[in-house]
Amino acid sequence: MRKGVLAVALFWFSGAATAALDIEVLARTCNNCHGVSGVSVGQSMPSIGGLPREYLKTVMKQWKYDERGAATMNRIVKGFSDDEIDALAVYFSKKRWVPVPQGVGAKLLARGKGVISENCEDCHGLTGSDPDEDAPKINGQWAKYMQLELEKYRDDGFLMPHRKMKRTARKMNPADVPAAAHYYGAQRK
Ligand code: HEC
Ligand code: HEC
Repeated sequence: MRKGVLAVALFWFSGAATAALDIEVLARTCNNCHGVSGVSVGQSMPSIGGLPREYLKTVMKQWKYDERGAATMNRIVKGFSDDEIDALAVYFSKKRWVPVPQGVGAKLLARGKGVISENCEDCHGLTGSDPDEDAPKINGQWAKYMQLELEKYRDDGFLMPHRKMKRTARKMNPADVPAAAHYYGAQRK
């Protein structure tokens, strides 16, 4: 009887240890593109460490189930189970959000601030650090990446399921796109 309980306990512990190890291994496969702890060093690659869990989970499942267009991520998440996606979302949401320092000229900054206080602040906050529940942090996210994403939202033929974000992006004057992206990219807090 005692032995049986011990065997079950050992089995349970080793199972838990394996699961913990697997998520580390799986998360390490993201480093090449998203950087160590999800802090990206490439301008067109987003940082993902410290983004809200719900957002991480939602976008990865949308890619898995072909509800969201992508250049790369749809192929990457296809092989993951829903449990693995949930575990990755928890893992990266627990990392620290690290804004990347990015320089921007005064003129572009002023234009970006104007656009954002009029069209974006309600949902993202003026600096992008205090977003609505279903939106990611974007303060200090790479400006180049954000510009690419905004073009996806603006493209009628590109599948992006968030209707309000799509509608807002499509209303933007083309020259306001880089301005807004650089303004949010330059925010440290
Ligand atoms: C080969 C490069 C590459 C690898 C490896 C990779 N990603 Fe990505 N990731 C991208 C690109 C590119 C995008 C932008 C969306 C797109 O077009 O695919 C992105 C976007 C994302 C986003 C959206 C970020 C945002 O702010 O909206 C999440 C979340 C994400 N990846 C998670 C992961 C996770 C978790 C892994 C590891 C399991 C991973 N990625 C591995 C290239 C990669
Ligand atoms: C109605 C609320 C709302 C408004 C207004 C809004 N956004 Fe968004 N934004 C969101 C949500 C929610 C998402 C995530 C949507 C998704 O899942 O695709 C998002 C996504 C983004 C992204 C992609 C971030 C990433 O990590 O991939 C950028 C960049 C962005 N918004 C910039 C802007 C700018 C610039 C404006 C103003 C011109 C704006 N948004 C206005 C809610 C909003």
